[in-house]
Amino acid sequence: MVEVAILGAGFMGNTHAAGWKALGPRARVRWISSRSGQKAARVAERVGAQPTTDLLAPLEDPSIVAVDVCLPTSLHREACERAFAAGKHVLLEKPLALTREDADAILAASERAGRILAVGLVLRFSAEYVEIERRVRARDLGRPMMVSTYRLSPAPDWNDWMRDPAQSGGPAVDLLIHDFDQMNWLLGRPKQVYARAGAAEGRGPGHVLTLLEYDGAEAVAEGSLIMPRSYPFSAGIRVLCQGGVLEHGFRAGPAGDGGNIGGSVTRSLRLSPAAGGSELLPVQEYDPWAAEIAYFAACVEEGRRPLRGTGEQARDALLVSLAVNRSLASGRPERVM
Ligand SMILES: NC(=O)c1ccc[n+]([C@@H]2O[C@H](COP(=O)([O-])OP(=O)(O)OC[C@H]3O[C@@H](n4cnc5c(N)ncnc54)[C@H](OP(=O)(O)O)[C@@H]3O)[C@@H](O)[C@H]2O)c1
Repeated sequence: MVEVAILGAGFMGNTHAAGWKALGPRARVRWISSRSGQKAARVAERVGAQPTTDLLAPLEDPSIVAVDVCLPTSLHREACERAFAAGKHVLLEKPLALTREDADAILAASERAGRILAVGLVLRFSAEYVEIERRVRARDLGRPMMVSTYRLSPAPDWNDWMRDPAQSGGPAVDLLIHDFDQMNWLLGRPKQVYARAGAAEGRGPGHVLTLLEYDGAEAVAEGSLIMPRSYPFSAGIRVLCQGGVLEHGFRAGPAGDGGNIGGSVTRSLRLSPAAGGSELLPVQEYDPWAAEIAYFAACVEEGRRPLRGTGEQARDALLVSLAVNRSLASGRPERVM
């Protein structure tokens, strides 16, 4: 049985708690920490865990083998370094960190401790994205040439820190990191990016448009943290290959208890071959966060390093996001490095 502590009881702490619970006897959540005792208690009650307002105190419990970090991004490095120093395996919500230096420090701490680091690059567990990657890798439609993505969220209203680019990294780091990781998965790392942004209430970029140049392919990504409250969270991807198009779209209403992705989900995956016969592909629906957690738990049980959501993949995606933020500041294309 994997005994785990979840650090953070906000949108993701709550979502992850459900994923751990779904594992039944394979896992037990022992601790939930949050600054607010009420929040910690609410999530802890759902999974039969002990709540604490001492955020990192669960790291001292020797029965805990794994820690699930769902804290604001600015706290990821300290939480991970302390967890690895205490000999725990770590599942860390994306983005890995806000800076390259912090990202490197987290990877180095995992290596030093010889403990697993997995990062919540959840699209690698989302049914439609997994199917698109499988078909692109198999070259079902030939070589991919153009990729377009969008990820548009109403302004986060379940916390304050996410609207502050200094704490969240803005849409490029907090939101588009999902799409940049997906594009890295499909196309390899981009050479260069160019980005433009709309301001959010004087608090930095809120809506970002990005052009990305790959070896033999081009991409465009749009990400927003300033859509109106009435706008349902929307995300999608279109991959134009030599022999046709794969396209996925997703929409969801807000969660009742905090977070931008809750009920009323609509989703589709369409295949449009150049030879004709456009069709909707059947995809089995499941909770991608639960799948990500089940995968991490299996890695811990079997003592193997993850192949999906690795520290290196998370670092590569962050490097794209940071290049986008540099382009926004310079007004010029920037190399990804
Ligand atoms: N994979 C995804 O799709 C996805 C979606 C959303 C977020 N995320 C990522 O998940 C992580 C957590 O995000 P979230 O939306 O769950 O955040 P959240 O709802 O704001 O929850 C943050 C948690 O950290 C605690 N906390 C401790 N110190 C804090 C501080 N200085 N400021 C704010 N909160 C503090 C909060 O405690 P109190 O609330 O009790 O104060 C709360 O328990 C972030 O890295 C975020 O980028 C991923």
